[in-house]
Amino acid sequence: MKNKTVLITGAGGGIGKAIAVAFAKKGANLVLVDVKKEFLKDITEEVLSLGVKALSLAANVAEYASIKGAVEEAVATFGALDVAINNAGVVGIGSIEEIDEQEWDRVLSVNAKGVFVCTKAELEVMKPKKQGAIINTASIAGKIGMAHLSHYVASKFAVIGFTNSIAKEVAAEGITVNAICPGIIGTGMWRGEGGIADRWKQPGETEEQSWERNKKTLIPQGVDQTADDIAQAVVFIASAPHITGQAIAVDGGMTM
Ligand SMILES: NC(=O)c1ccc[n+]([C@@H]2O[C@H](COP(=O)([O-])OP(=O)(O)OC[C@H]3O[C@@H](n4cnc5c(N)ncnc54)[C@H](O)[C@@H]3O)[C@@H](O)[C@H]2O)c1
Repeated sequence: MKNKTVLITGAGGGIGKAIAVAFAKKGANLVLVDVKKEFLKDITEEVLSLGVKALSLAANVAEYASIKGAVEEAVATFGALDVAINNAGVVGIGSIEEIDEQEWDRVLSVNAKGVFVCTKAELEVMKPKKQGAIINTASIAGKIGMAHLSHYVASKFAVIGFTNSIAKEVAAEGITVNAICPGIIGTGMWRGEGGIADRWKQPGETEEQSWERNKKTLIPQGVDQTADDIAQAVVFIASAPHITGQAIAVDGGMTM
């Protein structure tokens, strides 16, 4: 990874930050993308302190023009794009009655369309060089159905289907395309007010008790995964030339 250029979307979030640090420790130059530049302040300082170069950019992954601009700036700055981690995502929780069309579009536009437009823009610069690795962040929710997360689950199944299809499309062109499927990680998606643990509380339960119960009942290993677990797997996949079209779960056995 030394001196390779790695672009990460959602780099200001819990998993994105850990992925950025893991690649920085391998000596990669980083292009950190999030919807607002202020979300990238801490992580930019952290990777710069590890001695690598970093570019932080505000872009909306749900808009092709926005992400194409970020990819072009990455190439103009570092001369190439070697690895892209399409990690930005949003969660939505609700029963079928609670999810309206607007809410469906909000989740699908970032999680599914976002992965499509990012991959499209990234392949435009990777294909001429006949090399590259793309890793899309799916989820355990891309492998199993989950009550009250139907639109999120639909978006993540879409990520895996899209990943497999594009992997086949570019397999002979030196580019790998894979999905990473995180299990349960205590970032803002799960923890705090409005997070999944909060929404999945049983009567009389606190958010903390719901978090503990869900971990123990859903994950065979009985423990949550960390953002560092995901980052470790992502760096491995990005370095593996013959792994392509896979959706690799790091989930304590939840989808086994
Ligand atoms: N936390 C978990 O347990 C878990 C489990 C499985 C999958 N995931 C997936 O991992 C990825 C990262 O999630 P996280 O847990 O770090 O969540 P997070 O909320 O901490 O981070 C998500 C980041 O994406 C950014 N983002 C959202 N919409 C964007 C847009 N339109 N354009 C650019 N950036 C945007 C947010 O600003 C945020 O910084 C997501 O795709 C999520 O679905 C998370």
